[in-house]
Amino acid sequence: MPITGLYGPDDFAGRPQGQTTSPRAAPPRQGTSLPMPSLEWTAEVERATAPLYARVKDVIPPIEWPLMAPTIHAVNELKAARGAVILAHNYQAPEIFHCVADIGGDSLQLAVEATKVKAGIIVQCGVHFMAETSKLLNPDKTVLIPDSRAGCSLAASITGADVRLLREKFPGVPVVAYVNTSAEVKAEVDICCTSSNAVQVVESLNAPTVIFLPDRYLATYVASKTNVKIIAWKGACEVHERFKGEELRAYREADPSVQIIAHPECPPDVLAEADFTGSTAHMINWVRERRPRRLVMITECSMADNVRAELPDVEMLRPCNLCPHMKRITLANILESLLTLGEEVTIDPALAERARRSVERMINLKN
Ligand code: 13P
Ligand code: SF4
Repeated sequence: MPITGLYGPDDFAGRPQGQTTSPRAAPPRQGTSLPMPSLEWTAEVERATAPLYARVKDVIPPIEWPLMAPTIHAVNELKAARGAVILAHNYQAPEIFHCVADIGGDSLQLAVEATKVKAGIIVQCGVHFMAETSKLLNPDKTVLIPDSRAGCSLAASITGADVRLLREKFPGVPVVAYVNTSAEVKAEVDICCTSSNAVQVVESLNAPTVIFLPDRYLATYVASKTNVKIIAWKGACEVHERFKGEELRAYREADPSVQIIAHPECPPDVLAEADFTGSTAHMINWVRERRPRRLVMITECSMADNVRAELPDVEMLRPCNLCPHMKRITLANILESLLTLGEEVTIDPALAERARRSVERMINLKN
């Protein structure tokens, strides 16, 4: 069924102005910096990075490898020296995702993996809410994000005060927050969800109506899959909302055998044209299982590169919408992060305690 209500900042007179809490990152700690290693392209670097190049040879031209390989090599050496682990989202560029990350995945996989990390330092290659989620789940570990400006249009669309206003308007209605929110928002809600488990989370509450925020399109998708009434917030992903149903129809007209898969942050007219809708991890699994001859992935376009590196026999047509926030993370600032132990993610402990409950409630849901 369609969503039953849609609210946004303009619907609350007297709403406190301003955005959600800006990402908090502590300055690098004194006395912890290491010297910059050599970034020369040498025979030793070529030999040491050859197995990594084999992973990305179909998406990174050989002429570019000598420019990247010394930094990749330095990151991997420093990671071992620091006892750090690198978590990378599926939207990270192939040289990060395939060559320096220890664990890659969608938001749910990264949150679950964060609970299992043994290393004392986590470097989060993704956006700020992902690093915050890792910190919530690892309060005693050092969580670093190479550029704390890596935000998200969804996380920026709603504040903790907005959630309190929604609760006043709909007393007793449980609130589900997409993980693409700040810790401040997570602290105000009943449970979190990701695009992998959103329908399951909504139904787990056994309530006739649920407030689902902040993504209006993910909310619309969830509402189409459940009988629970959904009240949504007017947030949107600035990357996925740009796709158009007519674009997908044009691909199909050009080649009726093409397969099209889309992320549920896309508008409904886009999802109506897709052969499959799922989280980034569900999309990747779908491609691994189906091995389509020609594929259009309607999501951030680095993911198509990452999948093509793994499955070069699948021909990708790439409508390229990049997430400018994800692209703030680079090999150079990952190296800097390991050298200086910056930028460290910090969350007020009392707020973290409340936000952690919402994330853990999601993780503890049985499948
Ligand atoms: P996933 O959880 O599907 O990886 O999505 C995260 C995200 O930010 C999509 O834009
Ligand atoms: Fe946020 Fe969209 Fe970027 Fe994902 S792709 S991090 S939802 S802005």
